[in-house]
Amino acid sequence: MRQMPLNARGIPASRLVLGCMPFGGEWDRSPLTEERTRQCEAAVEAALEIGINMFDHADIYTWGKSEEAFGRMLKARPQMRDQMILQSKCGIGMADGTLPARFDFSRDHILESVEGSLQRLNTDHLDILLLHRPDPLMEPEEIAEAFGRLKASGKVRYFGVSNMSEAHIRFIESALTDKLIVNQLEMGLGRLDFVEETVRVNQTKGTQVNFSQGLMEFSRSANIQLQAWGPLAQGRFTGKDVSAEPEPVRKTAELVTKMAEERHTTREAIVLGWLMKHPALIQPVIGTMNPERIKACADAQQQADQMSREDWYRLYMTARGD
Ligand SMILES: NC(=O)c1ccc[n+]([C@@H]2O[C@H](COP(=O)([O-])OP(=O)(O)OC[C@H]3O[C@@H](n4cnc5c(N)ncnc54)[C@H](OP(=O)(O)O)[C@@H]3O)[C@@H](O)[C@H]2O)c1
Repeated sequence: MRQMPLNARGIPASRLVLGCMPFGGEWDRSPLTEERTRQCEAAVEAALEIGINMFDHADIYTWGKSEEAFGRMLKARPQMRDQMILQSKCGIGMADGTLPARFDFSRDHILESVEGSLQRLNTDHLDILLLHRPDPLMEPEEIAEAFGRLKASGKVRYFGVSNMSEAHIRFIESALTDKLIVNQLEMGLGRLDFVEETVRVNQTKGTQVNFSQGLMEFSRSANIQLQAWGPLAQGRFTGKDVSAEPEPVRKTAELVTKMAEERHTTREAIVLGWLMKHPALIQPVIGTMNPERIKACADAQQQADQMSREDWYRLYMTARGD
């Protein structure tokens, strides 16, 4: 079985990851409130309570406020840092009136971005740094120079990517000393493309799939840890009002509720269990800040372990609209 990334103390990452995108509140330049900081603490406490020790950030989330909120918490409780795996991302430049939205994998952008993340998070190192989305202007040698400096200075321990294909990974790795260890993509019962891509060969159905060809199989052979963003389908199968959604969404929500009742578990555990049963050993990056919803994910691994092939396919076919 693949070994999860370890933190500097040798503690392995949990299978579930808490996504910290909403930690900063609104996507604007308004200051971070004390109330928001307290909400973040409550979310992290709920996560730790169910064994989650890995936290996902990006330099751009709520214009840096999400990392800042997390950093305030770490400043008040510095002993927590050693127990955690902290991951952040760089490589996206936000449109801000004068500059356009852009990607930037230049050496200087990567180095400056990490400095900013370390400062906001109140830590001296990131366990993992991901390149957020492919930059068509990327030069692998520049990325390698930035990664080399970050590794040598101890500021970043491992590197990975997000929303990338096998070709991107091979291209970037061509200049790197270390292998990329993570690829984070949208995957889940609400975004089936990662499964559709595998089954669509010589099939007419599934030709609208928006997922890189062969990526699941490549990732498994190359031992790349896949992480799923959007794993709770933004609540569509776990209690959000879906009366105006298409039939497959409504039927999937009904089926998830029925399965949760029969198994005496939560809807979140069924939805995540479905994703975690996939043999790629995907790490779901859950994006809820609600402590009760976070705790409702606790049973996900057990549901994955107990889910039959037939139940897995029942959920898949229903979500697919078959
Ligand atoms: N690499 C990338 O390009 C990328 C892109 C997007 C996100 N991410 C990462 O992935 C994480 C998760 O992404 P996500 O937020 O799309 O995933 P998600 O876990 O599928 O959805 C979480 C969202 O759904 C809401 N939600 C969950 N259950 C609900 C319910 N029963 N009723 C109403 N609302 C419900 C949550 O609100 P509450 O907080 O109110 O529960 C939250 O806004 C992010 O935090 C970020 O770290 C990465």
